[in-house]
Amino acid sequence: MRKKIVAGNWKMNKTAGEAVVLIGEILDLLKIRPVTEPLHRVVIAPPFIALTKATEILKGHPYVFLGAQNCYSKPKGAFTGEIAPAMLVDAGCEYVIIGHSERRSYFKENDTLLMEKVKIVMGNKLIPIFCCGELLSERETGKQYDIVRSQLGNTIFNLSREELQDVVIAYEPVWAIGTGVNATPEQAQDMHAFIRKLIAEKYDSTLADEMTLLYGGSCNAANAAELFSQPDVDGGLIGGASLIAKDFVEIIHAL
Ligand code: PGA
Repeated sequence: MRKKIVAGNWKMNKTAGEAVVLIGEILDLLKIRPVTEPLHRVVIAPPFIALTKATEILKGHPYVFLGAQNCYSKPKGAFTGEIAPAMLVDAGCEYVIIGHSERRSYFKENDTLLMEKVKIVMGNKLIPIFCCGELLSERETGKQYDIVRSQLGNTIFNLSREELQDVVIAYEPVWAIGTGVNATPEQAQDMHAFIRKLIAEKYDSTLADEMTLLYGGSCNAANAAELFSQPDVDGGLIGGASLIAKDFVEIIHAL
């Protein structure tokens, strides 16, 4: 059965102390109104420096899990400033965001590197939240399907069926990230249906039907319910709105 997920990508925001406060606020609101659907999950991805504090607070929580925003493609060694997947496991992470558009554009991460990251992440039993999505210029020229097809085809579609079934895909059109201009529910549904069709063609329709596909890009408390009501949208990867406890919890309840 398809899981539904709301994941908060905090990006480079919040000190460890501030993270403790924000996670506490989120958990307090979830105590008042808990998530009761067994297949619904929440992921919180704070900065690395907050992971060990966050894991203490989240330990044993039935549906809120810890995630990281990135990791390196090697197990250990002389890679100054990088972090290994095993370190994230040790810090209590279960999920890792891979291939966010900010990593692709600012840090020049390409498909080859992203595939190496996915492989090592999965080898460490972490669940990748793999991001894809087109630029505005690509959508304006009708290339969005080709872009997403090649982003997936060059990376996670090289996984075996058994491997791919554990991956979460996040469709995040770059023009919608942090801009306040979300994809319309129709645009999100259209691309999610396209991704599911690609999975069915490359693998099979059972797998396509079971995979969790998240939408990301200016998803907020006001638009989440309509986006999530689309048949192929199984939740969201939330940036800005995940930094405000009340908004994030409203988004969780929009699942
Ligand atoms: P946003 O970011 O919700 O602030 O647009 C989403 C993301 O980058 O994952």
